[in-house]
Amino acid sequence: MDGSDEDDDGLQLSAHTLAALQEFYTEQQQRESLKSGPDYDKFAVGAVEEDWQLSQFWYSDETALSLAKEAIEASGKNGRIACVSAPSVYQKLKGLVADDVTVYLLEYDRRFSVYGDEFVFYDYNNPLDLPERLLQHSFDLVLVDPPYLSEECLRKTAETIQFLSKGKILLCTGAVMEDLVTQILGLKMCKFIPKHNRSLANEFKCFANYDIGLDAAS
Ligand SMILES: C[S@@+](CC[C@H](N)C(=O)[O-])C[C@H]1O[C@@H](n2cnc3c(N)ncnc32)[C@H](O)[C@@H]1O
Repeated sequence: MDGSDEDDDGLQLSAHTLAALQEFYTEQQQRESLKSGPDYDKFAVGAVEEDWQLSQFWYSDETALSLAKEAIEASGKNGRIACVSAPSVYQKLKGLVADDVTVYLLEYDRRFSVYGDEFVFYDYNNPLDLPERLLQHSFDLVLVDPPYLSEECLRKTAETIQFLSKGKILLCTGAVMEDLVTQILGLKMCKFIPKHNRSLANEFKCFANYDIGLDAAS
């Protein structure tokens, strides 16, 4: 073996090492961009601006996180969660859930269709107009924040909830809806108080048909 062979061997070794290093850095960059790049931002609460014409009032980051954690806890292993008119909770869930948890967002605002197959166009006026892949009684937890504080909106949204739900329901709405929420869905007011990014004129409350793990201070 002469000197030039040695040089070649040296170059080959160095190219191999460089390729391994390149692979390592590429994977590291991919991991970083998932944490801080556009894909992650897409799932941040507030990534889509509020449209008040659609009665959009986003939860504070803390409330969205608390509700997302509650949803994971309540739905259990291999859980299936439906977020109905509650995109902030869906966005938080995407940063938290493992692969075994299934999450859908049922929403009227088509800007959220960026979330692909997990976005389902939903209009409470047609409460059972749902795609076939959303099977009846197939969700461990249905989490809802109806767009309007009216009996009509609650009654129609309740049809959707009852179709999707296996049992557990968590609903956030105005305190003024308490009697109707109890009468139509049999839910009880919880201590947890949802907070929003902007202050709302209406007092907001959380209602459920099971013991939620969130208290007033959550
Ligand atoms: C009061 S906001 C609840 C949002 C929640 N606080 C959050 O941060 O995710 C009501 C939601 O209902 C949606 N919405 C508006 N019109 C609707 C309709 N006709 N049917 C179903 N949902 C509708 C809005 O786009 C909005 O996401």
